[in-house]
Amino acid sequence: MNTFSEQEREKLPNHVAIIMDGNGRWARSRGKPRIFGHRNGVKNVRSIVNTAREVGVQYITLYAFSTENQTRPDKEKSGLMHLLEEFLKLELESMLKDGIRLRAIGDLSGLPEFARKIVEETIEKTKHNSDWNLTLALNYGSRQEVLNGINTYAQKIFESGESPKHLNWSSFSNYLETSELPDPDLIIRTSGEFRLSNFLLLQAAYAEIFVSPLHWPDFNRDAFIEALQNYIQRERRFGQTSDQLSSIAQSFMPNQKL
Ligand code: IPE
Ligand code: IPE
Ligand code: MG
Repeated sequence: MNTFSEQEREKLPNHVAIIMDGNGRWARSRGKPRIFGHRNGVKNVRSIVNTAREVGVQYITLYAFSTENQTRPDKEKSGLMHLLEEFLKLELESMLKDGIRLRAIGDLSGLPEFARKIVEETIEKTKHNSDWNLTLALNYGSRQEVLNGINTYAQKIFESGESPKHLNWSSFSNYLETSELPDPDLIIRTSGEFRLSNFLLLQAAYAEIFVSPLHWPDFNRDAFIEALQNYIQRERRFGQTSDQLSSIAQSFMPNQKL
């Protein structure tokens, strides 16, 4: 049985980006250390990825570690990095079997050596996969990403003597770490927080946002389906009016890479 009708499937998001929040609170409410929450959060990833693949969402991007998370205690950071290593080791076989390509956004040089190595190896081993797309945001921060893009661009202008006046969004977006990804259609944040916390700030210009009250380890298949159901009922107007969108002459949506 299909969760979504054919008509609904056409409206599903192509790219869902998830701010996986609330692991610590989930653990605390059970009288356990924060790492227990992170461990259970990682376990949840497979089920969400499988659901996304099953319904036809093509891209999932997971905010796993922000630049600001570097300020957390060393013990927690190290626990998170070991969970990342375990996750990638465990999932490699099914990523290869299922044609999943892993990508990462964020400054990997800021991760401990063992974690950077396994991330880079997994990216390399899955780089020819083209059936499905999983991206991990690791040591990622939108502001840092934009600054890096501007610096690279400025350097290029300086060296080539080109005029900067031809820069538009389409060309600038190539300087972002998400240059190979479509913009997210839907951003889900768990744990009831209504903020983006430095995640995909420019790419989310026209993303729909869904906040779930559930902590990430509890955000199961049903909760994900509920978020998708909510999304397909929305009208994305991209600055236009409802009437324009429903007009028969409107045979295309404006390019999301505005
Ligand atoms: C999300 O859960 C995971 C990371 C940010 C790495 P948190 O660790 O932020 O959990 P809370 O928000 O403290 O409950
Ligand atoms: C956002 O969660 C980062 C990740 C989920 C990796 P945080 O828990 O770090 O965000 P704030 O600090 O509550 O905004
Ligand atoms: Mg948090």
